Amino acid sequence: MSDSSVFSKGLAGIVADATSISQVQGEVGRLIYRGISIEELANQSTFEECSFFSLYGHLPSKSELNQFTLEMKTQRNLPKQALSIIENAPRTAHPMAILQAVVASLGFDEGCVNLKNEQGNIHKAIQLISKLATAVASISRERRGLALIAPRPDLSHAENFLYMMHGQIPSKEDSRMFDIALILHLDHDFNASTFSARVVASTEAKLSLSISAAIGALSGPLHGGANEKVLEMADSIGEPEKAEQWVRNALTSKTKVMGFGHRVYRTMDPRAKVLRGMLESIVEQKGHDKTYEILRIVHDTMIEELSKTSKDYIWPNVDFWSGAMYRLMKIDSIDFTPIFAVARVSGWCSHIIEMWRDNKIYRPAAQYVGPEDASYIPMEKRS
Ligand code: CMC
Repeated sequence: MSDSSVFSKGLAGIVADATSISQVQGEVGRLIYRGISIEELANQSTFEECSFFSLYGHLPSKSELNQFTLEMKTQRNLPKQALSIIENAPRTAHPMAILQAVVASLGFDEGCVNLKNEQGNIHKAIQLISKLATAVASISRERRGLALIAPRPDLSHAENFLYMMHGQIPSKEDSRMFDIALILHLDHDFNASTFSARVVASTEAKLSLSISAAIGALSGPLHGGANEKVLEMADSIGEPEKAEQWVRNALTSKTKVMGFGHRVYRTMDPRAKVLRGMLESIVEQKGHDKTYEILRIVHDTMIEELSKTSKDYIWPNVDFWSGAMYRLMKIDSIDFTPIFAVARVSGWCSHIIEMWRDNKIYRPAAQYVGPEDASYIPMEKRS
C-alpha cells in the first residue's frame, strides 16, 4: 500500500464509486431516489413505478409503466430447477439460504454478460425482480407444508406477493401498506448487499449470480437480517413491563439492540418514521398489539438512555418497525429478510446496470501486516 492510500476499516466514509440512483443524507435523516424524497414516493408511487424509475432513470409515461408492469406480470413463474430446489431444501434451512440458491439457479440458462446490451440487461433484471417475489412466497409456503400458489397476472406486485403467501387476495389497505414497505426498502446507496452486488457484477459475472451474492450479504444480522432479530428480541422480552429494564441491561452489558444504529444516519432513519406511522394505524384499528407495545418501550427507552451519552447518534433504522407490521399481516418472522430482498432486488439490478455503463473491476488494496521475509520450514523441523 502506498503512503497516499487511505485505510478505513469497513470502508467507512470511503467513496467507492458514483451513483445517481439514491442518496442517504445521514445528518438530516433524508433518503432520495433520483432526487425525489422517499416520503413523496411512498405517498404517491408504487413499487412497479419506483422499479422502473430506478432502472431507467426517469419516471415512466403511462404506456411505459403499463408495458413494464405487464412484463413483470408475465415473468412471475419459476423455472423447474428453481422449484426443485425449493421442494428439496430441508424445511429447517433458513429461507435466505434457499433464496440464494434459487436465484443462483436462475443463472443456469443465463447467457454471458453483454455490457453494451443495456435493454437486454434490463429485461433480465425485470425477470429477476419478478421471479424473486414468487421464490420468496414459494419458499415460505413449502416450509409451512402448504401447496405452492401460482402467481395471478391480474394482481399488482404487492397484492400478488401477499396472495401467493396466504392464498387469499389481501385487503386494499394491506396491499397498499406492503407496497409502501417495498418502496421504502428498494434502494439505499452503497449498503453492504448493494456493494456486494456491484463487486461481483464488476467482474462481468452474470446478473443472477451477482444478485445471489447480494442475498448472502443481506442475510446477516448487521444488515437485512436485523428485521428478523428485532422480533426475536421482542419475543424474548416477552412482556411490555419487562422492556425498559431489558434495554438498560442491554446497554450496560454492551449488547447491540437490533434495529438501532446505522453507518450513515446520525438521526432517525426516514424509512423508520413512515413504517412506524403505518404500523400505528393498524394497531389503532386492532386496539392493542403486544409486539408493538414492547417495541415502543424499547424504542423510547433507547432514545432516552442514549441521549444521556455520547452515543446519541444511534437511532432506530428501517428494520426496527417493519417486522411488527409484517407480523400483523400474518407473516412469520423468518420470512422478513427475504421480503427485504423482494424490494431491494430492484436497487441491486439498477446499480449493476448503472455500473456496467462504465465498468471497472473493484479491486481495493490491502494493508499487509504479516511478516516481510519469512522462510519455509520443512515439516520435520517444525516444533
Ligand atoms: N445497540 C447498541 N449499541 C450500538 C448499536 C445498537 N444497535 N449500534 C451501534 N452501537 C454502538 C456500538 O456498540 C459501538 O460502540 P463502541 O464504540 O463502544 O464499540 C458504536 O455504537 C458504533 O457502532 P458500530 O457497530 O461500530 O457502527 P457501524 O457503523 O460499524 O455499524 C450497524 C452500523 C448498523 C452495523 C450497527 O449499528 C449495528 O450493528 N446495529 C444493529 C443491527 C441493525 O439494526 N442493522 C440494520 C442496519 S440498517 C438496515 C440495513 O442495512 O439492513
